[in-house]
Amino acid sequence: MKAADNLFIKNIAQLVTCRGQQARHGAAAMNDLGVIDGPAAIIARNGIITYAGPMSGVKPEDTVGCHELDATGRCVLPGFVDSHTHLVFGGYREDEFQWRLKGDSYMSIMERGGGIASTMKATRKASFEELAASAQIHLKAMADMGVTTVEAKSGYGMELETELRQLEVARYLDGIQPLDIYSTFMGAHDRPAEYKGRESEFIELICNEMLPEVTKHGLAECCDIFTEKGVFDHEQTRRMLTAAKEAGLKVKMHADEIVPFGGAELAAELGCLSADHLLQISDKGIEALANSNTVATLLPCTAFSLKEQYAPARKMIDAGCAVALASDLNPGSCFSASIPLMIALATIYMNMTCEEAVTALTINGAAAIGRAGSVGSIEAGKLADFAMLRYPSYKFLSYHFGMNLVEHTVKRGVIIK
Ligand code: NIG
Ligand code: FE
Repeated sequence: MKAADNLFIKNIAQLVTCRGQQARHGAAAMNDLGVIDGPAAIIARNGIITYAGPMSGVKPEDTVGCHELDATGRCVLPGFVDSHTHLVFGGYREDEFQWRLKGDSYMSIMERGGGIASTMKATRKASFEELAASAQIHLKAMADMGVTTVEAKSGYGMELETELRQLEVARYLDGIQPLDIYSTFMGAHDRPAEYKGRESEFIELICNEMLPEVTKHGLAECCDIFTEKGVFDHEQTRRMLTAAKEAGLKVKMHADEIVPFGGAELAAELGCLSADHLLQISDKGIEALANSNTVATLLPCTAFSLKEQYAPARKMIDAGCAVALASDLNPGSCFSASIPLMIALATIYMNMTCEEAVTALTINGAAAIGRAGSVGSIEAGKLADFAMLRYPSYKFLSYHFGMNLVEHTVKRGVIIK
């Protein structure tokens, strides 16, 4: 059982609720943060919110047995949900980053056997303890920035044993530190060199040998695939994700990252929780996502790191998509899980409003991992997961850019920062 506590947060200057149980689509909904002006209060019992509203609604008996936190002059928001990370990996690729700075491209490095394949080698070699120790450092940094729920993908094994080890590390970390981890099986992240040109055979191997082991041990809730020209095509994606759904997993896709490839349309058709990256999404893809329940998860730090153009967030939101923001933390395309950088890029370069960025990191991020019923907003019945800023308004998140404004992080009613 995870630690949970009773907590009374009082005198909140601004309470951002983001209330709702599902993704918010389009500009009107994404700009409505459900703000309660202070003085406001939150009460949590056993890690679950029992009250979120004006201070005047709190009776003395409601807070008996609660720890107290005074939020005078402070804004409280839902804890952030980082819904796309490759948290568990071995080794680093610092040289690759320097090559890219000099003009080398991500795909060309990948074609030469670097990229994901290089992390695959290091991850296969790494012990359980080594993988856990490095991932734990990232989880601590995330908690420090107000993140309370994190998705973690496998995909650096591309063989049964290492894929299972990555997922077992994620499960172990879920149990020993406060943040909740949502595990995604991504055996189809790339293919080992010996399967180049035989991608369909590799997909069969994943479907027939890896997927059953993952589900037998309950090691993942979701399945992801890198659908991209030169990696896995539509037919292979359909085969992989259909098998995953039949095995009881939710599905998502890395889609339209490097070239336009119809990935968003396929994600909507297959009922994916989310389609992620979308730098090269087409107008048809935008329309498909807008008319679906598939969240459009944008990863601005990856576009920044790869020096690519950003995903067309403004166009997508105006067309009615539900946009989420996530880090994509990984040792290659984006070795950063910075929430402040993500918000700065989203608001300054992607023309998202600060309100949209907050929605994208809270309720829409929660929807992207199928958890909008339990996290992503501040309302009775949800987990008591919060980020308290040292400023009185959420607007400081974009205004005081690049800085970590989180004074306290609360997970299940426990003050973890
Ligand atoms: O989301 N595009 C594929 N996968 C990752 C990168 C992983 C890596 O480079 O190690 C991504 O960017
Ligand atoms: Fe990714």
